[in-house]
Amino acid sequence: MSIIFDEAKRMITLSTKHSTYQMKADDYGYLWHLYYGSRADGQDFSYQYLGQDVGFSGQPYEEKDSRLISLDTTPQEYPSFGVGDYRLSGAEVVNPDGSRCLSFRYVSHEVRNGKYSIPGLPASYDQDGIAKTLVITLKDPSSKLGVHLYYGVFEELDIITRAAEFFNEGEGTIVLERVSSAVLDLPFGKWDLIHFHGRHCMERQFGRAPMGHFITEISSGRGMSSHQHNPFVILCDKEATEDRGDCYGMMLMYSGNFEAKVERSQMEDLRVAMGIGSKGFAWNLAPGESFFTPEAILCHADGFASLSHRYHRFIRHHVTRGKYHLAHRPVLVNSWEATYFDLDEDRLVALAKEAADLGIELFVLDDGWFKGRKDDNAGLGDWFDTPDRLPHGLGSLISKIRALGLKFGLWVEPEMVNEDSDLYRAHPDWALSVPGRLPAMGRNQLVLDLSRKDVQEYLYGALKRLLTEHEISYIKWDFNRCLADVYSRLLPAEAQGEVAHRFVLGLYGLLERLVNEFPDVLFEGCAGGGGRFDAGMLYYTPQIWCSDDTDAIPRMRIQHGTSFGYPVSAMGSHVSAVPNHQTGRPTPLDTRGVVAMSGAFGYELDLGKLTDAEKEEVRDQVRMFREDEALIHGGNYYRLTNPTEIGYFTAWEFVSEDKNRALVNLVMDIAQANSFPLHIRLKGLDPKAVYRIEEADGTYTGAALMYAGYSYPRVLGDYPSAQIHLTKIE
Ligand code: GLA
Repeated sequence: MSIIFDEAKRMITLSTKHSTYQMKADDYGYLWHLYYGSRADGQDFSYQYLGQDVGFSGQPYEEKDSRLISLDTTPQEYPSFGVGDYRLSGAEVVNPDGSRCLSFRYVSHEVRNGKYSIPGLPASYDQDGIAKTLVITLKDPSSKLGVHLYYGVFEELDIITRAAEFFNEGEGTIVLERVSSAVLDLPFGKWDLIHFHGRHCMERQFGRAPMGHFITEISSGRGMSSHQHNPFVILCDKEATEDRGDCYGMMLMYSGNFEAKVERSQMEDLRVAMGIGSKGFAWNLAPGESFFTPEAILCHADGFASLSHRYHRFIRHHVTRGKYHLAHRPVLVNSWEATYFDLDEDRLVALAKEAADLGIELFVLDDGWFKGRKDDNAGLGDWFDTPDRLPHGLGSLISKIRALGLKFGLWVEPEMVNEDSDLYRAHPDWALSVPGRLPAMGRNQLVLDLSRKDVQEYLYGALKRLLTEHEISYIKWDFNRCLADVYSRLLPAEAQGEVAHRFVLGLYGLLERLVNEFPDVLFEGCAGGGGRFDAGMLYYTPQIWCSDDTDAIPRMRIQHGTSFGYPVSAMGSHVSAVPNHQTGRPTPLDTRGVVAMSGAFGYELDLGKLTDAEKEEVRDQVRMFREDEALIHGGNYYRLTNPTEIGYFTAWEFVSEDKNRALVNLVMDIAQANSFPLHIRLKGLDPKAVYRIEEADGTYTGAALMYAGYSYPRVLGDYPSAQIHLTKIE
């Protein structure tokens, strides 16, 4: 049983294969959080906390004489605000009387089979009937604000999901100013915070910092999950490594403004509150209405590798959906770095011919194909092909490309509009902007107000027409600037704090309709590279373009950081030209292939410029990827080195679930004279098994490869790479 209720103690225990989570309602209805960590059955964990004379303030009124409980020092499941717990709260609200106090008390709970879903928002799903749902109802007896706390327990996968639904049973509107999807109290200890920061062309850089006695925040207020911070954090023991140590992951399944606040308290415990970003957020909850937060995905594991494996498996099987989520992803060629805006039908068909000859399966026409789009100053919003861009029309191009045996894919950026477009000329009020204020620009474009029904309908119509009129197998859904001037002309003044979230709901509604109506289309997410790389988008688009930096060397760091939370199958990754267009660096084709193949694989360069020998190498890469795809996308991923530490090579490994096959990739990223071989200790093998290494003579036991390691001879040159394939032979 993954959810157990002890009625006498009013205690609820959630169990997954390797973890235990426990909470308990006390006599006054305060819901204490008692434990989350390695599995420990048959224990009531309240012995750690209750009945101690602690706390300068914060005694519940009911305990005023005993002074034995302080709300300010006891771990809580969904902490209140303004009533004695001075740490981070679960929510901040304004009651109809202007007070801000909030004190949630346990009322009831319910256990259901299967996994809850969230209206209008992406949420993990359970097709196999393996999940259980717990719904705990808390209410503030004074304000009549209630909250249902949802827990999805995926026992076998070691994942617990959480979300909250606020409901107003009072008589006046309550304004929600901050709402957490989950709050987690970690016990006494020394904790590090791991986060993934960056910028355009440098997303999800691994960062690790000790938590001192302060509140820190990882967040985005850009209207998108952002290049700068990712909605995924890990709290870990300060000694934790890839292989061992307590670590807790919290991932928000949301693509807009978010925040993860972390506080180390006076008592040395740590509180994390994660949810929609509160900057500029104010949601009016009228009597009788309810409001759902996005879902947070929680995991506890021993070591980062194990944590990543659990997230990867969960995202692949219970977040991404549709025909392609576990299936072969077509190897693609994308026209962007091959032609940029300099498109013409002959050039595109020539690129497609080369691609078909090399075994590539999908041709993607990137930016520049639609009305007025001769550069990035015009056209967004007008999703029609016109003779000025494609003289014979999109249909003619698509039939030529399909005649070569390739599938056809198309780039769109539906949420945006250029002032120089028919759409903007007809509907200037459809763009987010504040009357009387000049809007901030980004790439000379504005953001459409997706909170509006008419805007959603226009985009739905435009995309449906493209997908119905043409044989399109793939859509790249781009998003190339952050939100600013967040103001909707259709909403009253007091509802403007809802716009950023309504924008995200509009986006999700649109995507939901399209992915359901066009189930054969593979959607790939993108936002100036990987600026919206999150579990919310992965619910609609099983792969996301990882970064606009296609240079294999910095890409390794980007993919390394991304891999902590997200599976390799989610990371769009392409071989591009040398010298690289973003950095000017030359790297061998072999190395570019090795790095791009650790993702959803493709090419993005003028294939016609390759030499015959290089074309042969590309054919080999495509063949190799198809052979290894199940291992790469479905196997367990191990980071063997840390590219953020000074080393001279980077290595990572894939091991099949049954441990029968493994693949190690090595890239030398610093050239050193007279150095030693590339020595690695493999991971995840069967210690008793004997493995053959395809690229070398000899056989090795799993134990030898893991405990003594393997030395790959040093190779000279600019950023050389190597692959080692292992097959279990006995
Ligand atoms: C963004 C994307 C690129 C490309 C361009 C086109 O930057 O990340 O891959 O599609 O837009 O304008």
